[in-house]
Amino acid sequence: MLVLLDQTRLPAEEVELVCTDAPALVEAIRSLAVRGAPLLGIAGAYGVALAATRGFDVAEAAVALKGARPTAVNLSVGVRRAEAAHQAALAKTGDPAAAAAAALAAARSLHREDAEASARMAAHGLAFLDELLPGGGHRILTHCNSGSLVSGGEGTAFAVALAAHREGRLRRLWVDETRPLLQGARLTAYEAARSGMAYTLLTDNAAGSLFAAGEVDAVLIGADRIAADGSVANKVGSYPLAVLARYHHVPFIVVAPVTTVDPGTPDGASIEVEQRPGSEVTELSVPQVPVTGPGGGLPVAPLGTQAYNPAFDVTPPELVTAIVTEEGAVSPVTAETLAELCARSCP
Ligand code: MRU
Repeated sequence: MLVLLDQTRLPAEEVELVCTDAPALVEAIRSLAVRGAPLLGIAGAYGVALAATRGFDVAEAAVALKGARPTAVNLSVGVRRAEAAHQAALAKTGDPAAAAAAALAAARSLHREDAEASARMAAHGLAFLDELLPGGGHRILTHCNSGSLVSGGEGTAFAVALAAHREGRLRRLWVDETRPLLQGARLTAYEAARSGMAYTLLTDNAAGSLFAAGEVDAVLIGADRIAADGSVANKVGSYPLAVLARYHHVPFIVVAPVTTVDPGTPDGASIEVEQRPGSEVTELSVPQVPVTGPGGGLPVAPLGTQAYNPAFDVTPPELVTAIVTEEGAVSPVTAETLAELCARSCP
């Protein structure tokens, strides 16, 4: 079985979610009980191992897992990696138990590698920030959640802020609440509070006035998929921050492992952006709120209101100051500089 921390219940409760088969994991991914690009890859790999160990059809499970959410490329990278290990071991030994063990070993090594990548991204990201903004005392704005909840280690963008905090160089982490599902308020603020850093929560639409007041030194976000031209898909609301950052001459830095770079997706327009149910916008559905609406939450709009609810948006490369990976910082972000990175290290 696969035991997950159910992120839909945070910060109110730390509750485990037990998945005993791949369909249960697909549902956990769809409901965002488990979420965030690197963690989706790790969970997908464990899902393949789970299917193999339980004697289910591995190819069928892999298709279902890869299709659970379309934007984060790490999910299909993780699933493919465990599936390939399973296939290779089965071809070699003809023994389903050995093949299941190989899938599990692949999932475990992806998990471990993600933790290592996380530590290296944090070091590269902080070095890049320090160089860009000498004098320390960084005031960093982040969006969505990119900490240990999404990673085998301490995460991506959040890990950089955490490294700055540990070195005494974080003045403040500004946390966008991240409507509609409040990953910033529920998850990033939870992680920031646990780490003892100075942080302040703001509504997404307060970011403009924060920039105007000169309170933001850098924006740091994660990514769900980076196209070959350097376009970055991340939680919806990232692109407006990039536009604001450019207007206010503030660096906009994306922190992501190389597994998030997808050379097979040529440009931003080719990235499939997941559309989520409108009820996530027309109703509040957090565990503390009583259930009354047809979508299972508290209605905040008239019944029948249509909602536009893309889960992600795409920031064009010209608005991205740098992409920091475990292999170092890529800046400027162009098809050429990314191709160089990929030639060295893309999966
Ligand atoms: O819909 P979510 O919560 O899975 O979205 C997550 C994000 O957008 C993160 O910023 C992204 O996966 C990068 S996490 C390192």
